[in-house]
Amino acid sequence: MSYETLILEKNEGIAVLKINRPKALNALNTALLSELDDAVAAIEGDDEIKVLIITGEGKAFVAGADITEMKDKTPEEARTFAGLAMGIFRRIELMEKPVIAAVNGFALGGGCEISMACDIRIASEKAKFGQPEVGLGITPGFAGTQRLPRIVGVAKAKELIYTAKMIDAAEALQIGLVNAVATPEALMDEANAMAKMIAKNSQSAVRYAKTAINRGFETDIETGMLIEKDIFGLCFANEEQKEGMTAFVEKRKANFK
Ligand code: CAA
Repeated sequence: MSYETLILEKNEGIAVLKINRPKALNALNTALLSELDDAVAAIEGDDEIKVLIITGEGKAFVAGADITEMKDKTPEEARTFAGLAMGIFRRIELMEKPVIAAVNGFALGGGCEISMACDIRIASEKAKFGQPEVGLGITPGFAGTQRLPRIVGVAKAKELIYTAKMIDAAEALQIGLVNAVATPEALMDEANAMAKMIAKNSQSAVRYAKTAINRGFETDIETGMLIEKDIFGLCFANEEQKEGMTAFVEKRKANFK
């Protein structure tokens, strides 16, 4: 499928979705969000894709929601716009396939927010993160007030959101906002290497693990353990459990389909 503001490529089970509106630093406007919604649906439905990497074209990952488009919105329109992006980001978060954000540059406002909907973030040394919204007279609107504290803790999230400051990749690593930092040249190789490590495992098990972590994290530990127990049980109804354990016993590499 071809898009105006996205580039989607697939190679050996790994899809790379590049946000491609570099003149506006990949700012998220309604047209881009609508294409993103289509692309996410296509990726979800594509059985060849095991892992998705999201990155940005040019010097930004995503420099936020499009301020020019947002400027004259009414309160109701702003709510609808937030709901549109939130829905797509939630779909990325709950997608069965693991999603890696390869953060190549500015990840501000909505850009930081989309990266936080991904399972894993790898940052270029050039990346900058922040939630600058209060400097624009608004709050984060694509779930930044919700995901940032869950990822870095309430105190750090409040500091970042109240001050509107930008942090570099090293600080993002230090506070646990990103999993790893790479040179700009090595960023996509690192993201691909991690995607390949994931792709060689049992995909049903990886997907079940994602569900258990996400659903468990959003509830109390007792309920989370029940979710894990059910999912653990479900694994044993799956061919990949048979293959994985038989391969171990037979001292050979598992051959997951
Ligand atoms: N919306 C619309 N256009 C944007 C944009 C955004 N979020 N970010 C950058 N652009 C545009 C600029 O207006 C500029 O366009 P022109 O060439 O037509 O003037 C172009 O992208 C290049 O940007 P700059 O010239 O500003 O580039 P720079 O290197 O000097 O600065 C920057 C880079 C520090 C990221 C700066 O562009 C910036 O501060 N951008 C806005 C970041 C921001 O505030 N993001 C939060 C948006 S609100 C939000 O996301 C709310 C939410 O949670 C939903």
